[in-house]
Amino acid sequence: DWTSDIFIESTIEDLKKKLGNDKVVLGLSGGVDSSVAAVLIHKAIGKNLHCIFVDNGLLRKNEYEDVLASYQGMGLNVKGVDAKQRFYDALAGLEEPEAKRKAIGKVFIDVFDAESHRIEDVKWLGQGTIYPDVIESVSVKGPSATIKSHHNVGGLPDFMKLKVVEPLNTLFKDEVRNVGRTLGISENILGRHPFPGPGLAIRILGDITPEKVAILQEVDSIFINGLKSAGLYNQVWQAGAILLPVNSVGVMGDERTYEKVVALRAVTSVDGMTADWCHLPYEFLGDISNEIINKVKGVNRVVYDISSKPPATIEWE
Ligand code: XMP
Repeated sequence: DWTSDIFIESTIEDLKKKLGNDKVVLGLSGGVDSSVAAVLIHKAIGKNLHCIFVDNGLLRKNEYEDVLASYQGMGLNVKGVDAKQRFYDALAGLEEPEAKRKAIGKVFIDVFDAESHRIEDVKWLGQGTIYPDVIESVSVKGPSATIKSHHNVGGLPDFMKLKVVEPLNTLFKDEVRNVGRTLGISENILGRHPFPGPGLAIRILGDITPEKVAILQEVDSIFINGLKSAGLYNQVWQAGAILLPVNSVGVMGDERTYEKVVALRAVTSVDGMTADWCHLPYEFLGDISNEIINKVKGVNRVVYDISSKPPATIEWE
């Protein structure tokens, strides 16, 4: 649409003037904002934009490979960094949600800092900050807040001393999507549900192991793909699965089982501040539950979260 066209044209002009021949480093998350910011900056300065996409081992099933491939398909200069083991090591034995968030934030900063040091003479940090992030620095759980709270001790990492370029900081989410559409970014990236920075770590209640991550990835993938095939994905604001630290008794053939319980969560919302649980069709929930229990080893019970926010939060941790 024309407003996006005008925005894109004038932003690219501004970015060219501001950045000249300087190099920019930008962390991609797979989400809408960082992707649109990256494509805009790339249009202005091409290969001088260096993107970094970190596999923290807490992403959805196949997410790292799929998203990396689609970034490469867009012509972005992107480096994928497999840091799974470093995150798992840092998380080992941690059970408390904020402790997990801090550990993840710290490893992310270390990995990102090391990667940005490899880019010779980088001058700028590109960010997908949008207008609501600017006005709402009260968002206690956001990734930048995690970074800030972590780095109150020990000084800032070097990449945080770079000059910041935030081409989307006057836009609302729907405007960012429109700009992304006009830029030709795929619906698969533009239409995706929000996904928290700490990823599946805050959907595995209690301590994290690679085995638990693998179980939750299977469950989550059945649920999300089910929503997509049933045409329900776009009616839901955010959805996911939670691995509970509970075993329950079941039967399989003549055998008694004692296995994990998972909860499914789907909400409608405008901005995540308040949310209603989605009245997904019983038929659909029944099919998904059967598929999960039949296919995912180690899970014998599925429950559906019917709590709204407030007083419940969207995430369980
Ligand atoms: P809650 O659970 O607070 O979630 O109702 C509201 C929105 O915030 C997301 N969320 C996070 N995002 N880092 C993030 O980047 C976090 O630590 C975090 N915790 C919650 C959540 O997924 C929902 O969209």
